Amino acid sequence: MIKEKDKNNIIAPEDSSEEDNNLDVTLRPKKLTDFVGQRKVKDSIKIFAQAARNRDESLEHVLIYGSPGLGKTTLAHIIAQEMNSGIRVTSGPAIERSGDLASILTNLSDGDVLFIDEIHRLNKVVEEVLYPAMEDYALDLIIGKGPSAKTMRLELPRFTLIGATTRIGLISSPMRDRFGLIHKLDYYTPDEIEQIIIRSAKILKIKLDKDSLKEIAHRSRSTPRIANRLLKRVRDYSQVKSDGKITRNIVDSTLEILEIDSIGLDKSDRLILKTLKDKFSGGPVGVQTLAAATGEESNTICDVYEPYLMQIGFIKRTSKGRVLTDLGYKHLNNL
Ligand SMILES: Nc1ncnc2c1ncn2[C@@H]1O[C@H](COP(=O)(O)OP(=O)(O)OP(=O)(O)O)[C@@H](O)[C@H]1O
Ligand SMILES: [Mg+2]
Repeated sequence: MIKEKDKNNIIAPEDSSEEDNNLDVTLRPKKLTDFVGQRKVKDSIKIFAQAARNRDESLEHVLIYGSPGLGKTTLAHIIAQEMNSGIRVTSGPAIERSGDLASILTNLSDGDVLFIDEIHRLNKVVEEVLYPAMEDYALDLIIGKGPSAKTMRLELPRFTLIGATTRIGLISSPMRDRFGLIHKLDYYTPDEIEQIIIRSAKILKIKLDKDSLKEIAHRSRSTPRIANRLLKRVRDYSQVKSDGKITRNIVDSTLEILEIDSIGLDKSDRLILKTLKDKFSGGPVGVQTLAAATGEESNTICDVYEPYLMQIGFIKRTSKGRVLTDLGYKHLNNL
């Protein structure tokens, strides 16, 4: 089954529209104090950033992992801001050759942050170049070919690498070992999501009552990006369908159009659960097979859908594959 890409998809980040990406940027907190939740991560960053500043040194390399939309990119920018550093942004797939990385590294200044998004997608050759750069702030260049080839060591500025990934399991252990700080971003509590929505509503000048606020938060998959997108969709709907006032009815109607159910699952979530139930009698089934049967990319299942479905206990990962749990069955029966 081939699924048409849904341009209005608000859950899978790769299907985002430009408008939604702009929304991310507009609503992105710029200071650590505006970054809601993730107490432990914030405390650690505060302390280590302060210590590095006091010693007039660059911060240790930081690896941030967690599901899409939980704030990895936001946090990378905030860390650079806390260190009063410049930030250079790139991503694993964008660095194709070691020469690309060499040119980025040699153009950094002392104390700069180099942010590599989707760092699990760096290729092996590039990774090898990154190791001495992270460890010794040096670049080993090979000059010439064959037996007469020589290596030359080039000093690099003292930079801080911040890597972000949705797939910590795909980071090689030598790579992991070179990060001084490794932070996991967790799903947010309903209370935290509400705080995020209140902040965004203020910035976007949206008024909404308590009931609507709670309902949007409840259906946001515990994810800030989704909360913000739902808020914007609800606002748009209210402007077209009523006088711009947001009520619980407006929230319900908007989410019905978006095919988001009572607990925030979308079409693809339900398709994955239903396929597990109907085609594989609840599993276990391998992710590749599940991907083929649902028409979703297996990476999208692993990065986007499965982590949340596991978080709420609807599916389980076993050594033999994915299994639908009793809770998952119950939700399907209630639809
Ligand atoms: N802790 C937070 N407090 C307030 N807003 C947040 C927080 N975390 C994320 N957001 C909001 O959610 C949006 C998405 O976050 P961000 O782009 O940092 O996610 P990400 O983890 O990098 O996702 P991806 O894996 O898709 O790159 C941000 O633009 C910001 O508005
Ligand atoms: Mg990001």
